[in-house]
Amino acid sequence: MKNKYTKILLLSALNILLVSCGGTNKTFDVASYGKELSFTGDSFKVMQLTDIHLTKSADNIKVMDYLVNNIKTVNPNLIVFTGDTFMNADSSIVDYFVKRIDDCNVPWAYTFGNHDFQGDYGENYISQRIQSTSTKNALFIDNYGEDGLSGHTNYYINIKSGTDVAYRLYMIDGGNDVNVSFGITGEYDYIKEDQLQHITKINTTLNDGATGLAFFHIPLLEMQTAWNTCKDDATKCIGKNEEKSCPSYKNSGAFEHFKANGIKGYFCGHDHDNYASIDYDGLIQTYGVKSSDLCYLDLDMPGYTTINLHSDGSFALDDIEKVFVKYE
Ligand SMILES: [Fe+2]
Repeated sequence: MKNKYTKILLLSALNILLVSCGGTNKTFDVASYGKELSFTGDSFKVMQLTDIHLTKSADNIKVMDYLVNNIKTVNPNLIVFTGDTFMNADSSIVDYFVKRIDDCNVPWAYTFGNHDFQGDYGENYISQRIQSTSTKNALFIDNYGEDGLSGHTNYYINIKSGTDVAYRLYMIDGGNDVNVSFGITGEYDYIKEDQLQHITKINTTLNDGATGLAFFHIPLLEMQTAWNTCKDDATKCIGKNEEKSCPSYKNSGAFEHFKANGIKGYFCGHDHDNYASIDYDGLIQTYGVKSSDLCYLDLDMPGYTTINLHSDGSFALDDIEKVFVKYE
């Protein structure tokens, strides 16, 4: 009895050791993180929607009507949600959002903000719902817990012009709220080093010279410096910043890492009253326009951001438009 008990303990300890060493992680090749779309004309229009903040106490039908009308007006080739789509929501709100967006018959991509997981559902619910067979237009991959990478989204979308990949859009989960100052102040997470290495692996494996653009929620620390640039000389920016920047608390080197891997610009959300696009030190940093009036918003009205990508892979600051739409 004693020997049998010892064996069970040893087997259990071995099992724990294997799990803690990543023994359960699967190996995914680069292609398994990729989705693909093609140009359908001279330009490809990406519509960024951010910080919608659907919640239990809101009139979510009204919000979704507003979003769907804006999508119909823009008629984009791709919609990208850059986080905080939900805050204190429940599963029925997630279901409703996914159905309304998918019914627009426009390809759509999704990544997470620091509030999306704060709801009456499990951590994997949103991903499972988006990846379910009932969606027809979602471009989304979540291998969290299986591949060992930080964050729920680390996928990319190749945009092809003819046979060439002109653009690669990276959808990065930049993490959640964190508390690193001994519980004194709340701070915001950062893109982890393993996620950056993952981008390098994608870029070097595909090695196609595509123009990279990144989409995530919390701005990089370099946004603070760029924010000051806007403040000192508004002519260097498109749009405006009307609140202080609240970037990641830690610099993992994403800014330089992006540039080294062909990423020319990134699009974030998080700071609801900022909507500037700043060409700073070789990387265009853009705050998307907050896309509903839920949670805080001091701008005159919410709206969306559109990014026009040209078939030759060019990407210029002048091609970024900011649009505000009256919220009835
Ligand atoms: Fe937000």
